[in-house]
Amino acid sequence: MHVVVSCAVSLDGYLDDGSARRLILSGPADLDRVDALRATCDAILVGANTVRRDNPRLRVHSDVRRQERVRAGKPENPLRVTITGSGDLDPDAPFFGHEALVFTAPAGLDRVTGTLGKAATVLPAEDLADVLRDLDARGVERLLVEGGSAILTALLAQGLVDELQVAIAPILVGGGVRFLGGGVFPPGRLTLVEMRRVEDVAVLTFGRPPHDDRHWLGVAIALAENCSPVPGAYNVGAVVVAADGTELARGYSRETGPDVHAEEVALDRVDPADPRLAGATLYSSMEPCGVRRSRPVPCAHLIAASAVRRVVYALREPPVLAAGGGDAVLRAAGVTVVEVPDQAFLVRRTNGHLIPTF
Ligand SMILES: NC(=O)c1ccc[n+]([C@@H]2O[C@H](COP(=O)([O-])OP(=O)(O)OC[C@H]3O[C@@H](n4cnc5c(N)ncnc54)[C@H](OP(=O)(O)O)[C@@H]3O)[C@@H](O)[C@H]2O)c1
Ligand SMILES: [Zn+2]
Repeated sequence: MHVVVSCAVSLDGYLDDGSARRLILSGPADLDRVDALRATCDAILVGANTVRRDNPRLRVHSDVRRQERVRAGKPENPLRVTITGSGDLDPDAPFFGHEALVFTAPAGLDRVTGTLGKAATVLPAEDLADVLRDLDARGVERLLVEGGSAILTALLAQGLVDELQVAIAPILVGGGVRFLGGGVFPPGRLTLVEMRRVEDVAVLTFGRPPHDDRHWLGVAIALAENCSPVPGAYNVGAVVVAADGTELARGYSRETGPDVHAEEVALDRVDPADPRLAGATLYSSMEPCGVRRSRPVPCAHLIAASAVRRVVYALREPPVLAAGGGDAVLRAAGVTVVEVPDQAFLVRRTNGHLIPTF
């Protein structure tokens, strides 16, 4: 399932000014853009507070778009979905006018079914991930999330958003409901996919980073488990991944010969003329070597000489066997280097014969 967030924010980062009246942030052209987006989605999710405060209908307004949906075999409007703990929602609100789903914690299911059961299908969910799993199982392929702040913050914190469309309005509000609350968000940068001017509003679309670094670094770390340990060398895993997430090659230490390093094995397995290498990332459980005892060319130099321009590793090479320094060699060659030290403990575990495993 693809999860798209759409919201409008003031220039100073508010979704709403907190007053009794609903704050108008964008104009007709931007509302029409959102209408077009709604028409492409199977379901629309908003938090219970948004239902209470904004009283939204969440319909596709354009007749033409609704007819197109029907011609494509879909219902006129996306399924409306909300999530509530309190169940404090008005069953006569326009939100419930057509098919709607209300998710609530299992403990409150009976109570919420009592108030809203006639207006909507009330379902149990432990958390937001559970809600998304349920919707996915119902065949929702595109889910649009239209706020508010609590729902957006929770989804982003859990890494559940694939696409984020933010309309930034040239208004200063000064206070109210912040776009996002505080939270621990997944590290790293999103990708700016598009910038569009719609009347006086700037619409920015962000997507997930092209690389799922933690996943692929985990693959590289796990690959090192395949190494046969020797007293004088590390156990390392490496994988080369294209920008679209396609794996191009993998390898581990000594896989193809007694002194061969993991990065070398992986690089030997890619086609140097493959155009995908320019956007690819090499993941290595350990910092690629900058100095090497066994062979003439250290891995950092091999990578710098290849078309690969991005390296992610977990453990900086400890000064045990050689001087290390591969990180600096790569950076000096213009390669983007990302160190993910919080995964280093896993790499220490596979190298307990040489370094402490703390
Ligand atoms: N500018 C925009 O694009 C835009 C879009 C949407 C909303 N808004 C504004 O945003 C404000 C509402 O945002 P909000 O942050 O107050 O509320 P919200 O995100 O709309 O709803 C939060 C409510 O959802 C329920 N909930 C249940 N489980 C949850 C979970 N795991 N995580 C988060 N919420 C969960 C709770 O309902 P119960 O309280 O019932 O238990 C919670 O109070 C309104 O002022 C609205 O005008 C603006
Ligand atoms: Zn090496």
